Amino acid sequence: MGNKILVTGGTGFIGSHTVVELYNAGYTPVIVDDLSNSSIKILDQIEKIIGNKPEFHQFDLCDEAKTADFINSNPDIKGIIHFAAFKAVGESVQKPLEYYRNNFFSLINLLTSYKGKNINFVFSSSCTVYGQPDVLPVTEEAPVKKAESPYGNTKQIAEEILAETAAVSKNYNIVALRYFNPVGAHKSALIGELPIGIPQNLIPFVTQTAIGKREKITVFGDDYNTPDGSCVRDYIHVVDLAKAHVAAIKRMEEGKSSDNYEVFNIGTGKGTTVLEIINAFEKSTGEKLNYTIGPRRAGDIEKVYGDVTKSAEALGWRAELNVDDMMKSAWEWEKYINENPF
Ligand code: WQD
Repeated sequence: MGNKILVTGGTGFIGSHTVVELYNAGYTPVIVDDLSNSSIKILDQIEKIIGNKPEFHQFDLCDEAKTADFINSNPDIKGIIHFAAFKAVGESVQKPLEYYRNNFFSLINLLTSYKGKNINFVFSSSCTVYGQPDVLPVTEEAPVKKAESPYGNTKQIAEEILAETAAVSKNYNIVALRYFNPVGAHKSALIGELPIGIPQNLIPFVTQTAIGKREKITVFGDDYNTPDGSCVRDYIHVVDLAKAHVAAIKRMEEGKSSDNYEVFNIGTGKGTTVLEIINAFEKSTGEKLNYTIGPRRAGDIEKVYGDVTKSAEALGWRAELNVDDMMKSAWEWEKYINENPF
């Protein structure tokens, strides 16, 4: 098998899909996860898809000694894809210290363990760093705006930590991927977004409403300056997103990086409104959705979608799956977890 790639947070939503795509591309994924926001059963689900149970280590990357011991005893790890972080926008407003501690200690411990050692490092960043862009589609050169939440701030500051580390230490080869809105699930419906508690994000709320777990969905505002008044986002299928991480590792392995710190937008380049999502879900699944129009949600930006020409050129990657694929796969996953609770 190919190079060993460490996937932190590898039992999570995007992490688990990336483990599958790494394996499909001939790599040997190794997962480290503290299981604080996921289930160990995901390992069995990944095994059902790829035919192998990935190597798994459970510990908290905020533990400096454990992280250093793990890295030092695994010198054959050639790359890292770092997902492990807290990522709920609303929760971060209530628990800022937990978010800064968890998201920075884990990142700094990982980087410190590689002082003086070559490593290819992919970081899970977010379009949230752009805030409400002045120009759309938003390019990687757009200014980073003041974060609307501690979660968004952890992404902005993490990017600065990575850029400043790369500037003085050429042993790190780093790519930050700024995701837009990851949605959907693997076509097998064996892995997907495991919502814990009341979903904050749109798609899990849509599928839980369709299956009857939620009475209705509220569209947070239809008075925005958009085609139908509801907010615009760049929804990207999680499998396309996972493949972008493999492309980033390959770019660094093949020595194609133009600098040892690069940033890429990972989206479809298309904007879709909330009401268009609801309509697409109903059309692609045949399920009727009970929804109402409610007030705007505090902190929501009006519209954002990515300019993805730089990632297409540099990564040789483009999103291939459309909104219908996203809705159908999200619905199949919802039905699966309804019959097979984790
Ligand atoms: C999408 C749209 C809501 C729920 C967040 C983070 C971002 C990333 C993705 C981690 C918005 C509307 C939602 C509902 C609704 N997370 N909505 N009714 O806020 O764009 O992005 O998740 O990386 O960093 O900021 O995603 O899914 O919460 O909302 O109308 O019940 O759906 O107003 O316009 P968001 P979301």
